[in-house]
Amino acid sequence: MKEQWNETAREWDKNMGSGDWFQRYILYPAIEERIKDKRGKKILDAGCGNGHLCRYLAARGAVVTGTDSSKEMIKACESYRTGERYVVSDITREALFSEELDWVIFNNSLQDMEHFERGIANAYAMLAEGGRMLILVKHPCFHPDSQDLGWRIRFEDGTTTDTGQGLTEISRSDKRYTGEVFRTDRYFEKSGHTRVWFGHATTSYSRTLEEYFGAIFESGFILTGVYEPRPLPEGEREKPDLYRLLLRIPNYIVLEAVKGKKYECK
Ligand SMILES: C[S@@+](CC[C@H](N)C(=O)[O-])C[C@H]1O[C@@H](n2cnc3c(N)ncnc32)[C@H](O)[C@@H]1O
Repeated sequence: MKEQWNETAREWDKNMGSGDWFQRYILYPAIEERIKDKRGKKILDAGCGNGHLCRYLAARGAVVTGTDSSKEMIKACESYRTGERYVVSDITREALFSEELDWVIFNNSLQDMEHFERGIANAYAMLAEGGRMLILVKHPCFHPDSQDLGWRIRFEDGTTTDTGQGLTEISRSDKRYTGEVFRTDRYFEKSGHTRVWFGHATTSYSRTLEEYFGAIFESGFILTGVYEPRPLPEGEREKPDLYRLLLRIPNYIVLEAVKGKKYECK
């Protein structure tokens, strides 16, 4: 999987830059909502990609480390020379800190980790007591594992076009367009599936809500919040169709958990 992300890194960096539409209008606002006080906070961005979130948090006073298993992604992070610490590491294999962090964030990365539950366990090991983990992932209920599911656009003459996982902009100037519907299926099927980012294939894993919550509880975390963020109204001007689609179906789910005193669940 590392190799896939190494091959994708350059294009990813070019397109992601300081955060794409999804980051700026959905994910950053969700993070802002949860982490209001960033000054001096020790934060790990796990699966940081080109480091856009690290730069954003550091610019607001946080002490940030970014880690990614792709060395090409870490090279991209370092090329910005903005002073955050970056480490090539597989977060499902090693904990980079010992009980000292205030936050561990998985920003759109956990769904790409085969042994995601080990990433969550390592997050627990790295956090100080009272520290928190924030998981932002593709919403398991609306993340079809095959390109023939997802958005289906309908036309007046009865024909349809499937746009799959991609939340493609739909041209409303097309007079034959009559609407679209989102189709989801095989929720319980465990599978790795190919996703194409900027022309490069990478593997993501389908998981149920039960699996995400299960791994959080199993590691000893206390779940403190579940959110289904919608885009900020400011996002409408840039991508009006996409904005409207995402007011219908959430693209992401955000889970917040705290490392508290351990207690036994029945
Ligand atoms: C979809 S990209 C998201 C990158 C970044 N968080 C963002 O939002 O732009 C997923 C990232 O997770 C990284 N990744 C996948 N598995 C990983 C692992 N086991 N440990 C660390 N990083 C991993 C990939 O290399 C890739 O950069």
